Amino acid sequence: LALSGCGQEAKPAQAGELLRSKAKLPAPFQVPLPIPPVKKPVRSDAKADYYRVVQRKASREILPGLTTEVMGYDGLFPGPTFDVRSGRTTVVEQVNELDVSTVVHLHGGHTPAPSDGWPLDLVMPANGGHTERHVMSGGDMTMGRRTYTYPNTQRAATLWYHDHTMDYTAPQVYRGLFGLHLIRDDEEDNLPLPKDDREIPLVIADRAFDADGSFLYPAAKDGPGVEPAYMEGVIADVTLVNGAPWPVHEVDAVRYRFRILNASNARRYELAFSNGPAKFVQIGSDGGLLDLPVEHKTVVIAPAERFDVIVDFSQYRPGDEVTLVNKLDNNSNVMRFKVAHKAVDESNIPAKLSSYAVTPRPAGVVRREWRFRRGGGHSGWTINGKAFDPAVMQAQVKLDQYEIWTFVTDVHHPVHVHLAPFQVLSRGGKTKVAEFDHGWKDTVDIRPAEVVEVLVKFTAHKGKYLIHCHNLEHEDMAMMAAFETI
Ligand code: C2O
Ligand code: CU
Repeated sequence: LALSGCGQEAKPAQAGELLRSKAKLPAPFQVPLPIPPVKKPVRSDAKADYYRVVQRKASREILPGLTTEVMGYDGLFPGPTFDVRSGRTTVVEQVNELDVSTVVHLHGGHTPAPSDGWPLDLVMPANGGHTERHVMSGGDMTMGRRTYTYPNTQRAATLWYHDHTMDYTAPQVYRGLFGLHLIRDDEEDNLPLPKDDREIPLVIADRAFDADGSFLYPAAKDGPGVEPAYMEGVIADVTLVNGAPWPVHEVDAVRYRFRILNASNARRYELAFSNGPAKFVQIGSDGGLLDLPVEHKTVVIAPAERFDVIVDFSQYRPGDEVTLVNKLDNNSNVMRFKVAHKAVDESNIPAKLSSYAVTPRPAGVVRREWRFRRGGGHSGWTINGKAFDPAVMQAQVKLDQYEIWTFVTDVHHPVHVHLAPFQVLSRGGKTKVAEFDHGWKDTVDIRPAEVVEVLVKFTAHKGKYLIHCHNLEHEDMAMMAAFETI
């Protein structure tokens, strides 16, 4: 399939077959970049803001002239953005008007276990629809709705929320159950960073479409999981940013702050500008601001990672066009910026961004190894040789103590830990921080046959939490483990 207008065959640069659309695809850079709306609370008190979200099907025009049925938070694709303050509690009543069970997880959240989205804490459909899917026990099931409480006791950061239903996360996120959750604080507000309409989220996700506009997803016919050809993960031929195919956005010739999230099920990107000497100045990672800004020529981003970057368009003239491409996919298009006007720029990138200190490697702490591998003998993925079993705690982890965790892989796996962020201590035996490992992370892109050590400390919340691969097909095919904080 030649993507019209971009003059090249879409070709995967990673394992797994490319899922190709049958729908007529638009030429790139026709659809304006949408910005997901900010969710408004239904009420607020001194300590908390209360929200209500309805998970429902909706018809959306993603490809011009066609409609796609999505499963969306408030029927949106992506869902609405939560924009909240550090230290103020967010309470979200999630109503499930879909015909499948769901679970909501706040990715990167320092969240008490009952609100963390344990994969069997199912919210059953409000309409009493299909319930035959999960007959397993081990979860706290609710009918029709569930209230999630997020204390937001953490630094300003770009978080996101998404479905986490056992065995069905990948198809449900694919159909739309994902959105942003931004936490702000005074430290960040006091910096002269680009603000308001110069602070833009870029949620990147690939999808494929059937001829009638509906999503294509290669589901297994006899239960959870995907067709065997897609076991490596589903990568698709249409790149969406904020839910629009290869969009275009008009900018002034000034600095912009882009909060980039890779919300793809399995695709990694190396983002670059195809023309001009533009660079990305990274100011933040998954867990908030870096201490010092870091310059990159390109940004490699694995599923679920976030990069908070500043791009300076002042070197361009009105009329110039700057295209963001994916170098891991033959420079295929992601989106385009059109530089429209010269403008006053009061923003700046301070030499020091944040006062958090990088913690040196402590001696004598508990060490654990987590091995991410294809399962032997059956068609799934495993951690430490085990397929996910919600009844098995693979570790008991004491609160308030540093631990060093070692992740070992066979093929590429973006490894994610719930509850606490971590710092990367070493990658491939090297202790100099690798280019994309700066700051506090909650997801780390581990390349084939690589060993990565991270420093982690869990605080405040006792209960059952998860470590898993964020390639969502791998996750659904059991590459997940439970641990307990005690
Ligand atoms: Cu973003 Cu356990 O997931
Ligand atoms: Cu994986």
